[in-house]
Amino acid sequence: MKKNFYITTPIYYPSGKPHMGHAYSSILADIFARFKRLEGYNVHYLTGTDEHGLKIEREAKKNNKDTKAFCDEISVKFKDLTRILNLSNDDFIRTTEERHYKSVEEIWNRLIDSKDIYLGKYSGWYSISDEAYYEDDEIIEENNKKVAKSSGSSVDWVEEDSYFFKLSKWGDKLLELYKTNPKFILPASRRNEVIKFVEKGLKDLSVSRTSFSWGIPVPKNKKHIIYVWLDALTNYLSALNFPDTNDKLYKNFWPADIHLIGKDILRFHAIYWPAFLMASKLPLPKRVYGHGWILSDEKKMSKSLGNILDPIDIINKYGIDQLRYYLTKEVSLGNDGNISLENLKKCINNDLANNFGNLCQRVFSFIGKNFKGKIPKKIKDNSIDKSFNDEITKDLKSLIELMDNQDLNSYIKKVVDFSFNANKYFNDNEPWSLKKSDSERMGDIVSSITKQILNITLLLSPIIPKTCEVILDTLNIKKEDRIIDSIKKDVLNYDVPIKKNEILFKKVDDDS
Ligand code: ME8
Ligand code: MG
Repeated sequence: MKKNFYITTPIYYPSGKPHMGHAYSSILADIFARFKRLEGYNVHYLTGTDEHGLKIEREAKKNNKDTKAFCDEISVKFKDLTRILNLSNDDFIRTTEERHYKSVEEIWNRLIDSKDIYLGKYSGWYSISDEAYYEDDEIIEENNKKVAKSSGSSVDWVEEDSYFFKLSKWGDKLLELYKTNPKFILPASRRNEVIKFVEKGLKDLSVSRTSFSWGIPVPKNKKHIIYVWLDALTNYLSALNFPDTNDKLYKNFWPADIHLIGKDILRFHAIYWPAFLMASKLPLPKRVYGHGWILSDEKKMSKSLGNILDPIDIINKYGIDQLRYYLTKEVSLGNDGNISLENLKKCINNDLANNFGNLCQRVFSFIGKNFKGKIPKKIKDNSIDKSFNDEITKDLKSLIELMDNQDLNSYIKKVVDFSFNANKYFNDNEPWSLKKSDSERMGDIVSSITKQILNITLLLSPIIPKTCEVILDTLNIKKEDRIIDSIKKDVLNYDVPIKKNEILFKKVDDDS
């Protein structure tokens, strides 16, 4: 039976056009989704837009647009981005869809039934930009304005009737969850942050608002709008056709394997969400992974600083796989990472053009010139070749483990080493010098290096899918053989000449 795997990104606010941070989360989730498919899993990858709440309502007003029309317009930009980034998402959810309303109402009713919700009055700080409540000790004063310490967003004092969720009663259960599932929150540093916060004691959470109307009304009390985070988090269930728990999607994919998010929204995913689910008597997701910030010029990208790198500009100029590769290789997943055009160009030239791209090009043209385009079949197994090719096969288990722990940086480092060693193998063994003296040995070297290129390509395919597809097409690898199991097999096609291809990665000049 096929194993199932469900991965999600945050659903983004359609309050402005998508930027590099959004692209980063979505690309990461795509890499893990593609890797699991490569392993033979039945994968469901979800992304989408989070369209309710005061933040969106205000943004629409500012733009003189009807709120729904405004959401439609910007949500399309996020949807377009999924294609531009070459994402393999199976669904794109919008919280303004009917399927989502049903699901949120069901969660609300379950929380009412379990007596986890009561009516009261909220007074405290609220940040519209974060759509988050803050305690007094989380607020600081900056330029005569009250702002949230963690995000720097300005906060307002709010007093209104509100329903509350009894979050306070779930503290011990949450701590138990973090203790018994040490990988529920990754990376570990984030986990400690959350544990400290919960240990301080949790207050009940306001889960409805009455001062605006853009959202999902509370069932049986339409004066109240359900808090946008209770609404938004439920998207992960709505997309599986919850509340129909007999639906195939729900049965196959709930609980989620990974909610991949940025560290800014960890509290919502690692505290509120499991508490809502426990209270609703639903199974909990297996992991919340909170990655760090993408920084530009060592600062968080922001409109006011004018340091925003537009993913679409970069893709148009340098290519999608170039961007995907750069973000995975150069940003340490889990930590904040600085990106710059300078480094992007270096990375394209060093890793992609000079290393892996050049290796493919040299080997393919060597096969073209010396073997009429047909990959030579191995004649004699030689210990040098064997230990060269074994380098990957014997590491396969640990490579899979790295990906299962989202240790993408160690994974890619290993793959880059394989590619570096493959270049060295080709140079050291000088098959070109054997043309006259030992054509059999020449063929065996080429056979080994081609097998290694194939294996590296399979390992890189979740990260740079477009280029890898070109290489696999060049080598005439059958679609059904484009899986991780092929690394340990011989799936090379020796009968049909390899295809001619264009340069895989163009070098970029300093001033381009
Ligand atoms: O928070 N670096 O939406 P949002 C890395 N709608 N990642 C970044 C980033 C940066 N500089 N900027 C944004 C919301 N992100 C809610 C989520 S989920 C049920 C609801 C990414 O549009 C990162 O994944 O503010 C972050 O968590 C997310 O975008 C926030 O997107
Ligand atoms: Mg945000």
